[in-house]
Amino acid sequence: MQELRDKYISAIAEAEDEAALESVRLAAVGKKGEVSLKMRELGKMTPEERQTVGPALNALKEEVNSAIAARKTALADAALEERLRAEWLDVTLPARRRGQGTLHPVSQVTEEVTAIFADMGFAVAEGPRVDTDWYNFDALNIPSHHPARAEMDTFYMHRAEGDNRPPHVLRTHTSPVQVRTMEKTGAPVRIICPGGVYRADYDQTHTPMFHQVEGLVVDKDISMAHLKWVLEEFVKAFFNVEHAELRFRASHFPFTEPSAEVDLRCSWDKGQLKVGEGDDWMEILGSGMVHPKVLAAGGIDPEAYQGFAFGMGIDRIAMLKYGIPDLRAFFDSDLRWLRHYGFTALDQPTLHGGLAR
Ligand code: DAH
Repeated sequence: MQELRDKYISAIAEAEDEAALESVRLAAVGKKGEVSLKMRELGKMTPEERQTVGPALNALKEEVNSAIAARKTALADAALEERLRAEWLDVTLPARRRGQGTLHPVSQVTEEVTAIFADMGFAVAEGPRVDTDWYNFDALNIPSHHPARAEMDTFYMHRAEGDNRPPHVLRTHTSPVQVRTMEKTGAPVRIICPGGVYRADYDQTHTPMFHQVEGLVVDKDISMAHLKWVLEEFVKAFFNVEHAELRFRASHFPFTEPSAEVDLRCSWDKGQLKVGEGDDWMEILGSGMVHPKVLAAGGIDPEAYQGFAFGMGIDRIAMLKYGIPDLRAFFDSDLRWLRHYGFTALDQPTLHGGLAR
């Protein structure tokens, strides 16, 4: 019995994991284990023998079982120790600097524009980039054969034969969000809509995908004066200048009447843009009073409400503000370019922070 005991106690101590421990348990005290078989032999013994061997076997079984339980706990503790050691992490180590990403100028400028207009009480609205030709054109008073459709270099979505859903386009401007928002919220409206737009065009200042921000205000007694004030406030905040001068040049857009293109007084000094001074004028956006047909398409009564709208190129004003010469580089994903022109993600643009870096 002493031999049996020594054999299993040392086997238990040597078991390296739970599986090994379990096979020791089966070999000793399992149904066909050595200790169990010995217990079955008790029946063949004389009552005297049984009286000494019985309790001794029971004690052995108990000793083996508790040794197994103790070993099991020890193995679990060791496993936990090992995990704690392997998963240990020093949260006070400095963050890794290399491989740090930057905010793309388009994201940065979108944030800046949003911060400025949010301060004037504008909400941000969104619409789909793949839209119906109704929202992109018809609802904006650009009927099928209007020359503006041809001028836009529109990407039309492929339609399978027999597909009778309305034709879809990659939106050519953010203006369709005007109508979508009016439908959704009714008057009054005070929104901007930043987002990607698409046209089949490619050169130093044009890429097939670019970004615009639309503005729309609809209310009672809205006039061009409100438009002018809002745009002046925007330009001053965006370019971080005390003074800015805008020139409203009569123009034509189907969705506004009257329409104006807006130029900003500026000067160029060795390629450096200066806003608010000088003898140059730079076009920065299109705008006007929302056409009554557009209000009606959005479900708003043009007899009761008026509105102004504007549309501005985000990439374009990003190039102007940050002196970026070629639009195409915006979308090349060249890491050197992104590191040079990118913004740190933790520098959130705020009005009180002056917006610039
Ligand atoms: N949607 C026009 C474009 O992409 C820009 C524009 C002009 C938007 C006048 C407007 C606006 O809201 O009133 O060229």
